Amino acid sequence: MSTFALISDPHVTVANPQTGWTAPTIPNEPTMYRESVALLEAAIDEINSMPDVDFVLCAGDLTKDSEPYNHDAARDLLSRFKKPVFCVSGNHDQPRPQKLRPREYLDPDVVPVRTDQIPQLYGDFGFKSTDLPAYSCDPTPDLHLVGLCSAKPDDDCGEISERVLAWLDDDLSRQRDPQRETIVMLHHSIIEHVPGETVNPTFSWFHVENSPALKELLKRHDVRITLTGHLHMQDVKQEGSLYNIATASLAGFPHAYRVITLRDGELDIRSRRLRSIPSYPDLQTHSRRYTTDSFVAIIGDALMAPPFNYTPERARTTSAKLHAWWPSIADGDERFDYTAEELGDPLLAAYVNSFSDSPPADNDLLIALREE
Ligand SMILES: [Fe+2]
Ligand SMILES: [Fe+2]
Repeated sequence: MSTFALISDPHVTVANPQTGWTAPTIPNEPTMYRESVALLEAAIDEINSMPDVDFVLCAGDLTKDSEPYNHDAARDLLSRFKKPVFCVSGNHDQPRPQKLRPREYLDPDVVPVRTDQIPQLYGDFGFKSTDLPAYSCDPTPDLHLVGLCSAKPDDDCGEISERVLAWLDDDLSRQRDPQRETIVMLHHSIIEHVPGETVNPTFSWFHVENSPALKELLKRHDVRITLTGHLHMQDVKQEGSLYNIATASLAGFPHAYRVITLRDGELDIRSRRLRSIPSYPDLQTHSRRYTTDSFVAIIGDALMAPPFNYTPERARTTSAKLHAWWPSIADGDERFDYTAEELGDPLLAAYVNSFSDSPPADNDLLIALREE
């Protein structure tokens, strides 16, 4: 039996210790960078108080934008967990291209850490070779853990290189113990979590571009469980025997993390939410409102573009009616029944309702790993 905690997307953000530079508020971005340290500290305190937890996983986006001092702070914070920590990097843990992150939001005095530098920085958190952005280990006798850095260079989407795929094929070939379950952790999703994720440019940056090659390999080696972050939402999707469990960001609503137990051939997944930090005693209420405000603006912009092409006034009033939509998706287990009448547009009602969650459950669920 093994129990582990899974956190994701802590986006650690501190002031530049040399210059004092801090990032300005980034418009329409719901990540609470300023509270990121307090939020990770709250998760560390909660998880450290759980005696059954054997180890901790962190599924990437360790920092705001891969500033070296934010990696220093992230490593310092991760080392405060009482149990071993294993992490991977995300798209925020490498240089961001200007089209994705305008210069005014980036610290002008530092060079961002690249993905190929992550293994040497995070040798205490899973990486064994400074030469490979991937690793494997057996954190407990009944688990084999694989960590993959999935960020595509100069982009926000994911990609697993041919070299890492070949390494993974070899690594999994050596796993012949039926008593040991393999879990693969990476940052980007490999099964669609939102409609059209792989083809819609609005969402394709959520995904590993060459996910078919990775999934073929995982299925060939009978891997069932993949753990990802990046989407900042609680969502579980299944494709045949393969599960992709996406976990929300600690630094954004709903501030969820998971405690997962492997016992008797079943994976018991439970989700918890941070409730309070010193600056926001009622964190959930504040954070839901903060996220809502960001997404009403984002949805308003989307409604003025094809295929909706609304006027600014119509986009503003309609997006306000959808204020609960994205926070509900992030929270998981969401059901939508917006009507054409209330939104004034049958096409839009059908589209937003298509995001209603399909099984399996997103927050608390039991996965049978082996058929008897
Ligand atoms: Fe993130
Ligand atoms: Fe990400």
